[in-house]
Amino acid sequence: MKTVFITGASRGLGLEFSKQYLAAGHRVIATARNPEQSEGLQRLHQEYGDNLKTYALDVTSEPSRNKVSEAVGDRVIHLLINNAGYYGNSNTLGKLDEAEWARVFHINCIAPIKMVELLRSNLVNAGSATVAMLSSKMGSMGDNTSGGSYIYRSSKAALNAASKSLSIDLAPEQIKVVALHPGWVLTEMGGPNALIDTTTSVSGMRKVIEGLKPTQSGDFIAYDGTLLPW
Ligand SMILES: NC(=O)c1ccc[n+]([C@@H]2O[C@H](COP(=O)([O-])OP(=O)(O)OC[C@H]3O[C@@H](n4cnc5c(N)ncnc54)[C@H](OP(=O)(O)O)[C@@H]3O)[C@@H](O)[C@H]2O)c1
Repeated sequence: MKTVFITGASRGLGLEFSKQYLAAGHRVIATARNPEQSEGLQRLHQEYGDNLKTYALDVTSEPSRNKVSEAVGDRVIHLLINNAGYYGNSNTLGKLDEAEWARVFHINCIAPIKMVELLRSNLVNAGSATVAMLSSKMGSMGDNTSGGSYIYRSSKAALNAASKSLSIDLAPEQIKVVALHPGWVLTEMGGPNALIDTTTSVSGMRKVIEGLKPTQSGDFIAYDGTLLPW
């Protein structure tokens, strides 16, 4: 039985990660800005009792992050899933909004790295741990054939760059880091035209996480196991 810490667990991929890890017999620390307002998390509470702990966490707020860290204390964390993310408005050239850009960067790039800083000792105490960053193929330069999406693309590209550094810096502490592309998924962010459901995406990503070798730490991998270009 392992302990998995998940951000942005109120809905979409974060909720599905919580559901699947609980169903597989693991302990889950599910965090969300308003966990009590998430029907999905409330249902999981009823089904899994003490194996699920929920905490309020706005990943961009230092006091909120510190409060969760205090509540978690020195509990061992085997897997940190930095899932919380935001696409942002005004992604089009000519309409780019600086404040929105900063907001997206804070949520998608700065906060996940701060979460690793915050929970580093909990991960070290696992003996061997993994950090999964929910990135996106939209952050790939090699894959960019359609342009646009300046705010979102740049935030995920920056996350990828930082994830690579983390993989190098944390290797001596037996912590693996992976940047994941979940596919184009039917969630609030993915919208109704997306190609796959959350069950398919999350089962695929779990397989990638579980099979990740130390030599693959720092890689950028899709839910179906494909290695992606930077
Ligand atoms: N869906 C796709 O096709 C797709 C493709 C590529 C990558 N991704 C990535 O996958 C991850 C999950 O996406 P999703 O599709 O599940 O999106 P979603 O349905 O829009 O869910 C996003 C989650 O992030 C949370 N969140 C946003 N800002 C937050 C903050 N400041 N603090 C804490 N939580 C915050 C939301 O919580 P609230 O309930 O509080 O708003 C929500 O739980 C994201 O990182 C996204 O960029 C998704």
